[in-house]
Amino acid sequence: MSEGSQTIVDGKPHPSGDQRFRVLEATMKRHQYQPNSLIEVLHKAQELFGYLERDILLHIAHSLKLPPSQVYGVATFYHFFSLTPSGRHTCVVCMGTACFVKGAASLLSTVEQIAHIQAGETTQDGGLSLSTARCLGACGSAPAVVLDGQVVGYQTSENLGQQVTQMMDHPQSKVAT
Ligand code: FES
Repeated sequence: MSEGSQTIVDGKPHPSGDQRFRVLEATMKRHQYQPNSLIEVLHKAQELFGYLERDILLHIAHSLKLPPSQVYGVATFYHFFSLTPSGRHTCVVCMGTACFVKGAASLLSTVEQIAHIQAGETTQDGGLSLSTARCLGACGSAPAVVLDGQVVGYQTSENLGQQVTQMMDHPQSKVAT
């Protein structure tokens, strides 16, 4: 069973309906909401959301019963955590099992070719950041990606390529998915 399908069963729903919170919740549950799992939980959150925005840090602080100042302090101390998106647009390609078997590697290489960057990098003009995740909690609509914070399923290289091209052509506007 893939990580995603397991966590959807185990995870609690989040009021936003964003599946990624279920995966995050399952990660915290697996660590029994132990405060000393903070760094691992922050890693998972960054993988899922691309960066750690304030609301996510507060959610984690509440769940792990830690003062928000401590969570914020840890997130800002380590260079591998980012509190703001590095590119004006973001693309996260899920490489989890369900997405991988449905062609995620080809999606990733399509974006890499169009943007001339590798996963984990941002284009020189700061227009697009590309990263990967292990599961977004949207296995039922694999292969899935996150474009500017929105989970989009059933991707093909062709439509993802079009959307990424559109993002790069319109650096200031959010892409319509
Ligand atoms: S493997 Fe679960 S969303 Fe991709």
